[in-house]
This record gives sequence, C-alpha cells and structure tokens, in this order.
Amino acid sequence: MAEKSFIKSILKKTVVGIIVGVILVVVAKATHFPDVFQIMFFLYAMLGSLVFILLDAPPMKRLEGGKAVVALVVFYVLLSGLYIAGASILPQFDPEDEKGKIEKILKLRRAATEQGKADELIARAKALDERAKAISQQLSSLGAGAQVAVPTQSTASSGGAASGDIIAMGKEQWELQECYNCHKLFGQGGKKRGPVLDNIGSLMTPEQLKEKIIDPKSWMAEGFEKQYEKGKMPDKYKDLMFPQEIDALVAFLATLKDTSVETPKPIKKN
Ligand code: HEC
Repeated sequence: MAEKSFIKSILKKTVVGIIVGVILVVVAKATHFPDVFQIMFFLYAMLGSLVFILLDAPPMKRLEGGKAVVALVVFYVLLSGLYIAGASILPQFDPEDEKGKIEKILKLRRAATEQGKADELIARAKALDERAKAISQQLSSLGAGAQVAVPTQSTASSGGAASGDIIAMGKEQWELQECYNCHKLFGQGGKKRGPVLDNIGSLMTPEQLKEKIIDPKSWMAEGFEKQYEKGKMPDKYKDLMFPQEIDALVAFLATLKDTSVETPKPIKKN
C-alpha cells in the first residue's frame, strides 16, 4: 500500500515539476535568457521535484559493513560520472585563452583613452588618413573597389596588432569576435552552422560586407531563411567594435575568394 501511494506521489510531483519547468522556460524565453539558461531552469525545476520525491521515499533498509562501503562508492562514482558527463556537454573555456582575448579587445580602447591629447590625435589622424588612402588604393588595385576608412591604430608602442597589417588585424577580429562559432572558414569552426564564408569576398563588396556586420538584417544568405528570420547572426558588432576594427574585418573578409568552396549567395534585404 505504501508503495502504491509513493508511486502516486512520484507521478504527482513529476507533473508539478514539469509544469513549473515549462513556466520557467516560457518566462526565461520571454525575457531573452540564452538557451543554456532555459535548459538549466528546467533542470532546476526537475531537481526540485526530485528532492520532494526523496522526502516521501520509504526508508531504505540499513546497509552494514562491506555492503555499505560498496554502496557508498557506487553512489559516489555514479554521481561524479553524471557531473562530469554533464559538464563536458557544456562549452569548454580555457581561462588563459579568454584572458588573452579580453586583453586584446581592451588594448585599443585603453590606448584611445590614454592618448587623449588633442595634438597627438591630430598628428595621428593625419598619418592614418594617408594610410587609409594607401590601403584603399591597394584594395581597389586588387579589384575589390574598397572604401576602407581610417584604421586608427594606436601608436607602435602598443605592439601586436599595431604591426600595420590591416588584413592581419581583420583576421584577429575574426578570432576575437568569435565569428568562427557560427561560420566555417578555412575548414575550421562553424559549429553553430552559419554559412561557410571561404568565397564571400567574391560575392560581396566591402561596402556590402560592412553593411551585413553593422546590420545583420541588411543581407540574407540564400538557404538560411530560417536563421535569418530568427536573427541568428548577432546584431551587436556595431556596439562592440570600433569602426576601424570593423573596417579591418571587412578588409580581411574581402580577401576570401576561394571559389572551390561553395558559399551561400547573399540576398539584399531591406
Ligand atoms: C551566432 C551565430 C553567428 C555569429 C557569431 C556570426 N554570424 Fe554571420 N551569419 C549567421 C547566420 C545564421 C547567417 C545566415 C543568415 C543571415 O544571412 O542572416 C550569417 C550570415 C553572414 C554573412 C552572409 C553570408 C552569405 O553567404 O550571404 C556574412 C558575411 C556574415 N554572416 C559574417 C559574419 C561575421 C564577420 C561575423 C563576426 C563578426 C559573424 N558573421 C558572426 C550567424 C552568425
């Protein structure tokens, strides 16, 4: 009899857990929590149910001696296995790697505030203007017809990306902004299944590429109607990136002309 009512209690609490879980997911969705959080909230609701079910569970027979030790070890191994399996499904981060990226992102911003002196800025602007002209010429001689704006590099003292190669800077932005999460390039990345971009430089002009990054709704990759409608490509780069970083990224993308890799055709939207 006790067993029967315990099963009933399990059913009831599971159902309540699912209802609470669904409500949490709906609220989380409405308030734009990322998918991972929505799943977590649901799992928490289920965990809650489990705790309440355990409270009602009939007492177990007491284990003694060797048996108790074995049971404890088995329980421990199972629980650890569950945790490790769960954790390995989640995306892995190497803290050193992330720290390096943050450092690079901050570098330009820091340089910009440290060197706020007007005369220095004017001198820099002049030098950069010349650079931009040279780069535009270089790009249009490549047939890209580019309009590349001023790549405001911090002075040589900041090292690294300031080495002067705008394409290399753009490639660095590709890494820093994690475009590779969704886009496969050079056979790498694209786990979240955005379009492959190896030949995008043949399909879009630098102006159009810039438009797409600044406003992802401006263009749609053919065959990606669903992802386009859902706004899968983040609309955040115009806020996260300096204009010169966007220009560098565009210059890099404009060099991608590997016609052997089928790249979805861009279609102009509003
Ligand atoms: C979260 C996933 C995601 C990230 C991150 C992302 N994109 Fe996209 N991107 C997409 C999807 C999905 C599409 C296809 C639907 C569309 O066109 O909006 C797309 C389309 C594009 C296209 C048009 C491709 C074509 O063949 O028409 C370009 C260019 C592009 N992305 C560049 C970038 C760049 C550059 C970055 C990094 C700054 C980036 N994307 C980051 C998901 C992403």
